[in-house]
Amino acid sequence: MALDHRVAERQAAGESIVHLGFGEARLPVFGQLADRLAVGARRNRYGPVSGDVAVREAVAGYFVRRGLPTSAEQIITGPGSKALLIGVQLVLSGDVVLPSPCWNTYAPQAALAGKTAVRVPIPAICGGVPEPDLLDESLRHARRAGHEPRILLLTLPDNPTGTLAPPAVIRQLCEIADREGLWIISDEIYRDLLHEPTTEFLSPAELLPERTVVTTGLSKNLALGGWRIGAARFPTGAEGARLRGDVASVASEVWSALAQPMQEVAAYAFAEPPEIREYLAAAARLHGAVARAVHREIVDAGAACRPPAGGFYLYPDLAPRQATLVERGVTDSASLQHELLETYGVAVLGGHHQGDDPAALRFRVATSLLYGDTDEEREAALAATDPLILPHVRGGLDRIKERFARLCN
Ligand SMILES: Cc1ncc(COP(=O)(O)O)c(C=O)c1O
Repeated sequence: MALDHRVAERQAAGESIVHLGFGEARLPVFGQLADRLAVGARRNRYGPVSGDVAVREAVAGYFVRRGLPTSAEQIITGPGSKALLIGVQLVLSGDVVLPSPCWNTYAPQAALAGKTAVRVPIPAICGGVPEPDLLDESLRHARRAGHEPRILLLTLPDNPTGTLAPPAVIRQLCEIADREGLWIISDEIYRDLLHEPTTEFLSPAELLPERTVVTTGLSKNLALGGWRIGAARFPTGAEGARLRGDVASVASEVWSALAQPMQEVAAYAFAEPPEIREYLAAAARLHGAVARAVHREIVDAGAACRPPAGGFYLYPDLAPRQATLVERGVTDSASLQHELLETYGVAVLGGHHQGDDPAALRFRVATSLLYGDTDEEREAALAATDPLILPHVRGGLDRIKERFARLCN
C-alpha cells in the first residue's frame, strides 16, 4: 500500500512509472456479475453465518468439478479468503510453517493468531511450498527451539513466484504432514489462472483429505478483489466438522456472514455458467501471455527467474548481476526496490516484504498492471488473440526491456 502511494505521488509529478508492484488482477468487471450485484442489492437480511445453502451448494459444485468431492455442509463463505485464512489460524492450535518467500499477509496473520511462523525456503523449481528435504529438518529445529509447528500453509499456484508445485512435491509434503500430524491449509485462490489448461494440478485435499482446508475466492479469477468474496472447504469427518464449527464461531463474532448482495454474485459465479468459463479461460490466457513476455525481457536483461505457470506474478533474482548492482549502490532487496523506483521508474515489491532473505536481490513483479490504464484498454487486452501487439501492452513491455537493461548493464 505504501509503495502504491509512492507510485501515485511520482505519477502525479508527471513521471512515467512502470507499476509492477500491486497484486491485483486489474481486469474489468464481467457485465453479468454487475447485474447479479444489482439484483442482490435488495437483500438486506443477515442470513446464515456460513452462507445461504444455494451459495454453499454452488461452491461445493465448483470443488466437485475440480476433482474434490464436496457437499454444501463442508463450505463456509466469507468476506474474502483472507478472513477465512485467519479464522482457521485462530482456531487451530500450534505454530505455522510458511514457504519462504510467500504472500506478505501470511506472517502478520500468524502473528495476530499468536503463532510463530517457521519459514522454510522454497525449492529451486517452484514456489508456494517448502522444499520437502528442508521441511523435516526445519520441523525438528523448530521443536528443539520450543515451537509447536502444526500447520503447513501452501499456495497453489503461488504468489509471489507465479509457479505451481508439481504433484510429486505435493505427494512428498503430504507424506511428511501425515507423519508429523500437521494440518494443511491449501490456498488455491489462483487455481483457475493456470496458464495452460493441461497443467497437472494436485490439491493436498486429494491426498490428506481429513486434515486439509482449501481456501479460494473470486478476487483473482474474476478480478473481484474489492467485492470481498471468499470460501473455505473443510474436511469431512469429526475433526473437520469441529474445525468448521469453530471457524463459523469466529465468523459469527467477527463478520456475521458474507454480505447478502455478494451471495447473489457468488451463487452465480461459483456455478460457472458457460460465459463465466469463457471469461476465466480468456483471463488465464491473457495472464499467461503477458507474464511470459515480461519473463523473457527480465531474463534477457540478466535475471534468473522461474518460468511462470499461473496467476500474474514473477519472482526474478538479480544475483547474476550482483557485481554491476553493487556499483550502483544496490546491495539487498530493499535498496534494489528503492533504486528501481527512484532511478529507473519501475515499481516492484522487494523480497524482504515476502519473508525472503533480505540480502538477496529478489523481488516480485505483478504483470497484470500492464493490461491498461482504462477499462477500454483492459477489455481490449482480454479480448485480444495476441495482447502483446496492442500498443499499450507493447509500450509497457518495451519500457521494462529498456529499464532493466539499463539497470543491469
Ligand atoms: C496467495 C493469496 N491468498 C489470498 C489472497 C487474498 O484473497 P482475498 O481477496 O480472497 O482475501 C491473495 C491476494 O493478494 C493472495 O495473493
